[in-house]
Amino acid sequence: MAILTLGIESSCDETACAVVSDGRNVLSSVISSQASYHSRFGGVVPEIASRMHVETIIPCVRDALNIAGINLSDIDAICVTKGPGLVGALLVGISSAKGLSEVTNKPLIGVGHIDAHVAANYLTHEELIPPFIALIVSGGHTEIVFTPNDRDQIVMGQTRDDAAGEAIDKIARVLGLGYPGGPKMDVAAKGGDPTIYDFPKTRFPDSFDFSFSGIKTAALNMINRIKSSGQELNISDFSAGYLHAIAEVLAENTVRCALSVRCLTICLAGGVSANSVLRETMKRYSDQHGIRLFSPPIELCTDNAAMVAAAGYLSYLKGVRDDLSMNANPTLRLLNSEKSI
Ligand code: KG4
Ligand code: ZN
Repeated sequence: MAILTLGIESSCDETACAVVSDGRNVLSSVISSQASYHSRFGGVVPEIASRMHVETIIPCVRDALNIAGINLSDIDAICVTKGPGLVGALLVGISSAKGLSEVTNKPLIGVGHIDAHVAANYLTHEELIPPFIALIVSGGHTEIVFTPNDRDQIVMGQTRDDAAGEAIDKIARVLGLGYPGGPKMDVAAKGGDPTIYDFPKTRFPDSFDFSFSGIKTAALNMINRIKSSGQELNISDFSAGYLHAIAEVLAENTVRCALSVRCLTICLAGGVSANSVLRETMKRYSDQHGIRLFSPPIELCTDNAAMVAAAGYLSYLKGVRDDLSMNANPTLRLLNSEKSI
């Protein structure tokens, strides 16, 4: 009999619920995005996010069950994001999951959002098993994680300042591209010439760490200089150059890291991995070194609950169970990442 996990995600501005079978097959994935409500503020407003999750979470659960063609009683475990994220937003998902778990008497499993992003790869690539290197790039995280087996995760490198998504969103806002900045800059960069504007690329020779504050400041200074001199800024070329510079650093570091541990499988994870420039650059670098590259489809790169159900399934198999004392952890790291280099 297949194991059915229900995933609930409410860490930021997406309310999502999904049903996944055996941690690999998505039976339903419902996402209610609040982006249009936050866009006029230029970013996520935590209180609005919490209030909207409260309104939409149960309808999302109902839709996910209906689309999957199952009843709540058919579910084997209720899995929910417990962090990182906005505390008020997380609490809505956690409280709902606790209620569902109590009513059905089914296990409650708290899932790390970053683990869930990595687990999205299991949903699309049946052949994927550890060892693999994951490049996790989202609005709040940028790290390279080595998963040598199905128990351990080793953080090999991480950003020393801004996350890649943060650096992209900030410049997209200054360019007037709107919110959410990442996808808008992706579109703006299409057809742009990445060689017109030159951006600094920060590298640390003895480390797999990243730093994006330098490129962000350089971009801000460039925009101000161009505008104050009365010149025209070509947004398409600028966006293309900026995204290429960020993608090159991400790809170069990740491939260097993979080769250092002789692991020839790389997975992409997190919202920024939806970026077309990053996907192309990663592909090019991976091909050059005979590395297999896995990347979820766009809808599983950005926040969704299928990834939560997939990560929850792995915890379910390991016997992980939470109880009613489970709380939100806004700064949660990877669940099994005790070690790092
Ligand atoms: O994983 P995610 O949906 O939420 C977090 O866990 O943070 O990632 C959100 C980030 C934002 O910075 C957003 O601008 C970026 O992912 N993003 C993109 C694209 N789609 C989402 N950045 C560049 N290009 C995209 N197509
Ligand atoms: Zn995310």
